[in-house]
Amino acid sequence: MKVEPSSLEWKDAYKLLIGSILPRPIAFVSTLSKDGAANLAPFSFFTGICADPFLVCFAPMRKGTDGEKKDTLRNIEETKEFVINIVGEKIVNEMNDCSVDYPPDTDEFEKVKLSKISSDIVLPPRVKESDVQLECVLREVLHFGEHPGSGSLVIGQVVMVHVQDQLYREGRINTEMLQPIGRLAGQSYTRAAADTFVLERRKQLS
Ligand SMILES: Cc1cc2nc3c(=O)[nH]c(=O)nc-3n(C[C@H](O)[C@H](O)[C@H](O)COP(=O)(O)O)c2cc1C
Repeated sequence: MKVEPSSLEWKDAYKLLIGSILPRPIAFVSTLSKDGAANLAPFSFFTGICADPFLVCFAPMRKGTDGEKKDTLRNIEETKEFVINIVGEKIVNEMNDCSVDYPPDTDEFEKVKLSKISSDIVLPPRVKESDVQLECVLREVLHFGEHPGSGSLVIGQVVMVHVQDQLYREGRINTEMLQPIGRLAGQSYTRAAADTFVLERRKQLS
């Protein structure tokens, strides 16, 4: 089977996208509106870019209903700051409940009963129940349309990394304790630390 994505309705192209690229980590992004309302939402189009500078990126799509920007993107463009809270299994339900399209002034922290904790450098609060939190300053936003199905790429420079003390040993984060969650297609998830194997990297092929 082969298919040109441009020949598909965007919802069908989207199914191929999320069915091909998986498992995906989840950025649980906290932001503030310019009026100071806190917002929290999950995004699985998320990855790191490089270590020096320490850059990460995630991609909010336009709303499927009307092509409007999601609150997270609007807040980041207005305030230039955000926090990426890493999602472990213990907050997976709260994360899921934050994906509801609430009105812009809804405080999702209060809605799902997660605790705010002040950031060191940026204004948006961190999620206390998340074991790794990345304070980010906006570096760049790239836009790829304004219609349903289109989206943007948000690139952030991480200015502070917070890791719970018990997870942090000799400069590394303990994966088993972090219990990271990966998103699959549809409403399926995977426990990323549950079924792992080691593949040694060879110096060269003989
Ligand atoms: C696990 C998960 C991953 C998601 N990933 C994305 C994503 O990568 N891009 C996106 O636009 N929406 C994604 N969503 C949907 C958003 O979380 C949802 O549209 C949310 O309401 C946006 O909130 P906001 O308007 O407060 O920014 C995801 C939802 C879930 C549950």
